[in-house]
Amino acid sequence: MINDVAKQIIENFNSEIFVETGFFRGSTAVVVRSWFKDLMILEVEINPVYCGYGNNMFRNDKNTRIVNADSKTFLSENIETFKSFNNPVFYLDAHWDPANWPLRSEIKNISKLQSAIIIIDDFKTPNEDGTVSDRHGFDSYLGQDCDKDYILDLIKPYTDCILYAKEPTIDGQGCGIIFINKNYDEIVKLINEKDFIMEKI
Ligand SMILES: C[S@@+](CC[C@H](N)C(=O)[O-])C[C@H]1O[C@@H](n2cnc3c(N)ncnc32)[C@H](O)[C@@H]1O
Repeated sequence: MINDVAKQIIENFNSEIFVETGFFRGSTAVVVRSWFKDLMILEVEINPVYCGYGNNMFRNDKNTRIVNADSKTFLSENIETFKSFNNPVFYLDAHWDPANWPLRSEIKNISKLQSAIIIIDDFKTPNEDGTVSDRHGFDSYLGQDCDKDYILDLIKPYTDCILYAKEPTIDGQGCGIIFINKNYDEIVKLINEKDFIMEKI
């Protein structure tokens, strides 16, 4: 489920599309649509049953598209199409199957864009002093935590920081936010600093 801080990011960075990997029952898509009535929403979901729910839920919404695909394949084959959108937001939540965790592949492809914002759900969150927060839940697959260390080599060439939502979501999870090709001095002008924890990388 998406964190409220995503709203100010989409708004303040004038994002023209919200791409979510992992639709499931659509909780995040419904919240995003309630925030922005005309924003383009693209959902990439591997399970055709959940795509069926989605197509039914959003049947009268011309700006929401549900694609039945593995996000790894979809992003690798279609990443160029996102070049025409201002600051596309990629909300990565296809964490489910330990044998097919697409996160690193998703990030590799998204970072080919000149500008993009990545929000990773269920991400391990630090306290201000660098210790691990016990208020924010995070995922772990086959002993690998969903955290900075897992993706650091992929993002370091493109930014100097990771942001985290200071407050967990209503389901108690943390999220990490990475701006491709933006450093903190540029990002901070467009966010409400009090809502985030910032970690230099
Ligand atoms: C944690 S749930 C998503 C929850 C949803 N984002 C929400 O906020 O309600 C994970 C979803 O990712 C989907 N999924 C898992 N691996 C995937 C992949 N490689 N590509 C696309 N979807 C995937 C699963 O079928 C499942 O529906």
